[in-house]
Amino acid sequence: MAKRVALAYSGGLDTSVAVKWLGEELGVEVVAVAVDVGQGGDFESIRRRALDAGAVESIVVDARREMAEQFVVPAIFANALYEGRYPLVSALSRPAIVRHLVAQARAHGADAVAHGCTGKGNDQVRFEVGTRALAPDLEILAPARTWGLTRADCIDYAARHGIPVEATKEKLYSIDENLWGRAIECGVIENPWARPPEEPFTLTKSTATEPREMVIGFEAGVPVSLDGRRSALAELIGELNSVVGAYGWGRVDMVENRRVGIKSREVYECPGALALILAHRDLEGLTLERDVSHEKARLEPRWAELVYDGLWFSPLREAIDAFLATTQQHVSGEVRLALAPGSCAVVGRRSPLSLYVHDLATYDAEDTFEHKDAEGFVRLWGLGVATWAARQGGAENSTPLSTRADGSQAHLGPVSGGAASGGPVPGGAASGGAVPGGAADEEGS
Ligand code: ARG
Repeated sequence: MAKRVALAYSGGLDTSVAVKWLGEELGVEVVAVAVDVGQGGDFESIRRRALDAGAVESIVVDARREMAEQFVVPAIFANALYEGRYPLVSALSRPAIVRHLVAQARAHGADAVAHGCTGKGNDQVRFEVGTRALAPDLEILAPARTWGLTRADCIDYAARHGIPVEATKEKLYSIDENLWGRAIECGVIENPWARPPEEPFTLTKSTATEPREMVIGFEAGVPVSLDGRRSALAELIGELNSVVGAYGWGRVDMVENRRVGIKSREVYECPGALALILAHRDLEGLTLERDVSHEKARLEPRWAELVYDGLWFSPLREAIDAFLATTQQHVSGEVRLALAPGSCAVVGRRSPLSLYVHDLATYDAEDTFEHKDAEGFVRLWGLGVATWAARQGGAENSTPLSTRADGSQAHLGPVSGGAASGGPVPGGAASGGAVPGGAADEEGS
């Protein structure tokens, strides 16, 4: 049984009660660890609150820069959107927190870590799987999963033990926030048909009315500037949250599949994150070679799923990240975004490393494309399909045109194909029989 435990402490009701409960019920000493990942709040008062609740030590770690550079950057590289929509706000912060939790457990001689997550969510998975990857010897305690206290019970418990909390018995929403955005759950949102009320939103209140443009600069896949002004990523995201959020853009309302098998209705507001992913993906369109781009697109949802599922610390995430990192070396340039109430759209992009060659793309006089090369290329490209058409009837049986007025089917060509049809068979007699369907049919001769 553990003697000293490092608790991931948020300053809220559950983790404040957890500090006391762990001491009272399990007889362990609690080292409270609050990690700043950009959620805002007064960390000095959070630190003191943990001591007031009975923690033997209370530590605050500023991990904002780390969160941006080590967790958000790979997510941008991966254009990471779980189930195509959710930019992994909470999922990215948990491994950032776990690292510090484990480090503080070591520094303070704890033999266990604890978190305040319930048994129904993804965050318990992320805390525990992450801890097992980093420190398999540490015990893991999840008081909120075992204590059987309702929210009202927690408030009574806090009152009985003189724990200062601001919570009220009706909690309207469960909100998790960091520099990458906000996740809002519970309350009326639990009805998937109910339109989310305005009240829980803070980043996407629509106030701007004048359309404007902005330019985001990237270097090797990393966002580095807004309208030509360079800033560190954490600040850049903050700026984008306010600029883009003011147009009321950046909300996601979805029913998502949690790792624990529950479907839940979730509402997010992540204006900066969504604008950055939009711009980054667009710049990749200009700078990534086709095969790399397509292969990358296949791996992106896998990356998002791994991180969502709590497998940040896993060999597959590391391997995919190595691939993603190599793809980013030429993703430098600028993306132009147009903002208007309720919308944010890419309207231009440029890069010194662009693979867009105007003289190849143009239909004007500067055209340098070798048109004659296309002829042989296209013939060979279609050879397999032409052979199929000649030998097996091709698509004409499966894709008839719509029924004619007299009720008969319109066909694309002669019904009986092959050598006898004399139709557009590749190669034909002149090919010397090398191409199927020609006059010299090897089966017939
Ligand atoms: N559903 C999201 C996720 O699993 C958000 C979780 C937010 N957590 C919270 N306590 N509100 O990543």
